[in-house]
Order: sequence, then structure tokens, then C-alpha cells
Amino acid sequence: METNEAQAVFESKLANNEYIEPKDWMPEDYRKHLIRQISQHAHSEVVGMLPEGNWISRAPSLRAKLVLLAKVQDEGGHGLYLYTAAETLGTSRDEMLDALLTGKAKYSSIFNYPTLTWADIGAIGWLVDGAAIMNQVMLQRTSYGPYSRAMIRICKEESFHQRQGYEIMTRMAFGSPEQKDMAQDALNRWWYPSLMMFGPPDTESPNSEKAIKWRIKRETNDQLRQRFVNQTVVQATYLGLKVPDDKLKWNPEKDGYDYSDPDWNEFKNVIKGHGICNRERINARQKAHDNGAWVRAAANAYSQKQNQQSEAA
Ligand code: 3HC
Repeated sequence: METNEAQAVFESKLANNEYIEPKDWMPEDYRKHLIRQISQHAHSEVVGMLPEGNWISRAPSLRAKLVLLAKVQDEGGHGLYLYTAAETLGTSRDEMLDALLTGKAKYSSIFNYPTLTWADIGAIGWLVDGAAIMNQVMLQRTSYGPYSRAMIRICKEESFHQRQGYEIMTRMAFGSPEQKDMAQDALNRWWYPSLMMFGPPDTESPNSEKAIKWRIKRETNDQLRQRFVNQTVVQATYLGLKVPDDKLKWNPEKDGYDYSDPDWNEFKNVIKGHGICNRERINARQKAHDNGAWVRAAANAYSQKQNQQSEAA
């Protein structure tokens, strides 16, 4: 097929809400854009295991430990689906991991903040998974088939994660005064970093225009952030907690809350690698990667042997 004809087929698929599949022709920029976003997303899932993993051995009950363990394990699975979806675009797991470990690829800014108390585990489930779902529901209808299918499964699991976090916050907010203070302190520290998860304001988002044009993203960073604020303020009110924003006010004209922006300089600093925990997170991933070298070598040797046997048969 000529390139012009292939381009027309690609565009008509987008216009008709059909999926682009791995063997379909696609513009090189579209492929690169997807590799960037999906691999960053995969890295976020895997690095996101670290702040919560930190609390598995200190969970306050056996039930809480089991639930947290299952949640952290789910995140590892999400990373796996997403790395696999990115591989269908012609990149390799090694290339993606190398980009993460050498600081060339980003992962979500949120995971560079420390988890200081058990209430932080509640705040992560409630706010961080809540923000992730807000963003990811639209990604279930993203234009690239393998990404969309991965997101459908991920969203089902993320909904449990959000409930797990809100359950912890509910227990603490309706518990002793000390527990309620811990819940409030966690909300104070995680609120603005959660707003940063949606990315920079639309006016400063270099990738949004193309992402919307190609139906990779269906809504903009600011639209999703606004929806998250509207939903989360109601949940905080139910818990009797105060969102740490004195400018927060219902605005009937926009049918949503007016709210204060996070500190965008802090955001830029964190994504450049200068957040509180950036170095710790990458060191932990590097150590896990090095410790896993023998597993990768064994898996490769096993698969080579299987291939030799099937060729000989
Ligand atoms: N953290 C780190 N980097 C961020 C960021 C954030 N919160 N928000 C934006 N950026 C980066 C972008 O990657 C881009 O950098 P690059 O061009 O070098 O790759 C730059 O800042 C400009 O941002 P844009 O708005 O132009 O970029 P995007 O259009 O890609 O939008 C996004 C950013 C909303 C994060 C989008 O990439 C996206 O929807 N990604 C898929 C979802 C995702 O990655 N979620 C991670 C959340 S954590 C998670 O899912 C784990 C769960 O278990 C909680």
C-alpha cells in the first residue's frame, strides 16, 4: 500500500473509533508517542510498588497486610501488561528498562514522595489510585488496541485499590483523634502531588494536542484534574477532613470547584529527578534489576532449550 493510502486508512480508523493494531500502518510519530506514554505508564506502575511495599511488614493487621500485598502485586502485573503492550510497537523490555534506570524515561512524579505513616497508605489508595483511575478510564478507549485492552483490565483492579485506600481513610477519620490527625496530615501532604499526576496545565503540555488528535488521550490534563477535584472534595467532606486549599469554592458557573494550582516549580523539579525520593526509587529499581539477573538468564536458557527441542521434533 502507498504511504498516502495507508495514512488515509489510519485516519479513517481514528475517525470511526476503530482500533489501530500492531500490524497496521501507523505514522512514526504516533508510534513514538505511544512508546513514550505507555513505557512511562509501565514504569509508574512498577516504581509505584515501592512506597507502598515499604509498609507491608508494618501493616496494622493481618487483613490489612494481605490486602496491601495483593494490591502491590497487582501493580507489578499492570507494569507487565503495559511493557508487553509497548513491545508490540517495536521496542524491547531491555530498552525500556535501560531508559528508566538511566533517567532518560520519566515515571509518575507522585512516587517520589515518602510514605511516613499508615495513613499515607490510605491516602495513596484514595487519592493516587483515584487520580490514576480518573485518567485511565478514558484510556480504555484509547486508539491503540493493545493499550486499550491492557487498560480495561487495569481499571477493574484500580477500582479495588481506590476502595482499599478509602476504607483505610474511613477507619482513621472515624477512629481516635490521633488517627483522625494522621488522616488529615496525609491528605495535607498528598493533595497537591495528586493534582500534579494529571500533568502540567493544558497551556504548558507539549504532548496533549497530538494525543487528542490521535485519540490516544480523550480528555486534557486540566479537564481530568477538575473532575478529580470535584469528586474528591465530596469524599473528603464525608470523612470530615479538610482539603488543604483555602481558595476551594464551588463555582456554579463552571459546575465545579475553583481550586489552587499545585506548585508547578516543585513539579518540574521532581520530574527532573530532584524530588525527595527520586534517587532512592531508582537505586531500589537498579538493585532489584541486578538481583534479578540470574532469573532472566535462567528464563532465557530455558526458552532457548525449548526452541531447540521444538525445532528438532
Ligand atoms: N509525572 C512525571 N512526568 C509527567 C507527569 C507526571 N505526573 N505529567 C506529565 N509528565 C511529563 C510528560 O511525560 C511529558 O514528558 P516527556 O515529553 O519527556 O515524556 C511532560 O511532562 C509534559 O507533559 P504532557 O502533559 O505534555 O504529557 P502527556 O500528554 O503524556 O500527559 C500524562 C502526561 C497525563 C501522565 C499522560 O502521559 C498519561 O495519561 N499517561 C498514562 C497514565 C500514566 O502514566 N499514569 C501514571 C499514574 S501512576 C499509575 O498509574 C500507577 C497506579 O498504580 C496508581
